[in-house]
Amino acid sequence: MSNIDTSSPVIELRSLTKTYGLGDAEHRALDGVDLTIEQGEFITIMGPSGCGKTTLLNILGLLDRGTEGDYLLDGGSMEKMGGSRRARIRSQQIGIVFQNFNLINRLSVIENVALPLTYRGMLRTKRLQQASDILKNFHLSEREYYMPWQLSGGQMQRVAIARALVSNPSIILADEPTGNLDSKSSHIIMEELSDIHKRGNTIIMVTHNPALTTYASRVIHMLDGKIDSDTKIPINVESTTEKVPLGAKRTAKEKPEKKPAKKRKTKAKAKPKTKAKKS
Ligand SMILES: Nc1ncnc2c1ncn2[C@@H]1O[C@H](COP(=O)(O)OP(=O)(O)OP(=O)(O)O)[C@@H](O)[C@H]1O
Ligand SMILES: [Mg+2]
Repeated sequence: MSNIDTSSPVIELRSLTKTYGLGDAEHRALDGVDLTIEQGEFITIMGPSGCGKTTLLNILGLLDRGTEGDYLLDGGSMEKMGGSRRARIRSQQIGIVFQNFNLINRLSVIENVALPLTYRGMLRTKRLQQASDILKNFHLSEREYYMPWQLSGGQMQRVAIARALVSNPSIILADEPTGNLDSKSSHIIMEELSDIHKRGNTIIMVTHNPALTTYASRVIHMLDGKIDSDTKIPINVESTTEKVPLGAKRTAKEKPEKKPAKKRKTKAKAKPKTKAKKS
């Protein structure tokens, strides 16, 4: 990547705390988390159930606020910002894959996927076309007009991921995105996330599966609301700004050769987006 700029991180948490309940029932789901994330990192977050992973992702995704401390996104404080501005930033920059899918039952698959584009003021036909394009990548074209309750768990999960990616967000937050999938479907999802990462976007993924850390450039372990360990790891495939259509999976021949461990380049000035969708 050219135009390297390591000056300002995309995400910065400063002593972030999240407390639920009051008095004796008070529970610190996040306990003074300090975290700096550069654009283009692929982070996996691991840790036992209840350690605060989803709480952290909800705050990073502007769905919730911390109790104390601050969250800076692109240098701006999100904790002090009003709800409508936060919602606008979320719709423009952040794609979220929820742990429990959060599909809307009264909307068809294609309408669910097109939903994030509504907030962009895009015409309905264009929204549906874009949703249809991304559903193709997840082998769900034949299910476009199904209702969510007519899908298997794995199909629901793929729809949820397509919905998170349809608006080309530069930050993708994914809570156990492959948790309910068989190995073939998991592979489709991870290749998709990997392609998006290679275009310079930032991915933060919660997983219980240690095998998936091979895709990551950094592995964070949480324990009792704190960061227990934070390890940067060299990734196999070189980061590139090459635009690979979302649906185009690389053949083994096309895949870049494994290179010896090399310090990864961190930040490109231009905000990358997952643009090209059509092959
Ligand atoms: N809305 C809430 N009200 C009260 N307590 C909550 C709430 N949400 C989460 N918690 C508590 O905060 C702690 C962290 O929850 P969180 O969902 O972040 O865990 P997690 O690491 O994502 O777990 P899992 O791996 O099971 O998904 C838990 O003890 C949970 O009970
Ligand atoms: Mg969780």
